[in-house]
Amino acid sequence: MTDLVKIEIEDSVIIVRLNRQDKKNALTGVMYQGLADALEQLENDPGLHVALITGTKDCFTAGNDLVDFMESSGIAGDSPVSRFLRNIANARKPVIAAVNGPAVGVGTTMLLHCDLVYAAPGAKFIMPFVNLGLCPEAGSSLLLPQLIGHRRAAELLMFGDGVNAEQAKEMGLINEIVSVDTYQEYALNKARQLAQQPPQSVRVTKQLMRQGNEEILKSVMKAESEIFSAMLQGPEAKEAFSAFFEKRKPDFSKLG
Ligand code: COA
Repeated sequence: MTDLVKIEIEDSVIIVRLNRQDKKNALTGVMYQGLADALEQLENDPGLHVALITGTKDCFTAGNDLVDFMESSGIAGDSPVSRFLRNIANARKPVIAAVNGPAVGVGTTMLLHCDLVYAAPGAKFIMPFVNLGLCPEAGSSLLLPQLIGHRRAAELLMFGDGVNAEQAKEMGLINEIVSVDTYQEYALNKARQLAQQPPQSVRVTKQLMRQGNEEILKSVMKAESEIFSAMLQGPEAKEAFSAFFEKRKPDFSKLG
């Protein structure tokens, strides 16, 4: 277990805190492992009923670590990221998120698998996959249009500008906006409350709510991860990553 993902257990709730503040909680392999392990613990421990995923007070996560992206062979197969995505997509027990500050890339797409999302006013939801020469992942090419409609999803995915907490609430991407000083405690209280509901009834409800989508989601996630992994090695992504670390605007003009 790593200090970069802190795990606490309170009142049948497993609390998972991303804790890499100096890098805006950007997710490395070891952090995905911590997240994946925590979700397995949730599934396997009958004493645990709900997971709460949160970041540090001011930041949820800047998404996948871009250094890792530059060096990685992709998000497919049995990589820690694919293990995490599989576990969150298949979680039988409820998963809640508490978000403030940037929720970039997988920081937003993981929320599409959460049952409840609470955010502080400073939350910003950004999916800059196209800006990075990549494509949507984590089932977001299916789940986002289902949740907010094709046109709004196209806007978020193709321009990568992001939305603030108010806009996210209006779109149904989050449940509620709660003050920055209380949003994490508020989400934890919701998790505690849910953990006291009849567990089997909660699990069956979650299963029924998503079973219509299960097969198609699986095949979309597989297709996304193959295309995403190929694009990671492509010239557009290479230019975008270099530009980020050189603190300049990317130049895609010479790429076909
Ligand atoms: N991977 C690796 N390092 C990252 C990172 C990421 N995804 N996001 C931020 N960092 C690092 C920065 O390089 C910087 O490191 P440094 O202090 O050594 O220079 C540090 O975290 C702080 O980031 P900074 O950009 O200065 O913070 P900010 O508050 O101005 O902006 C973000 C925050 C999240 C908006 C911005 O960092 C960002 O856009 N990050 C990239 C997000 C991204 O594209 N993720 C992949 C999605 S698929």
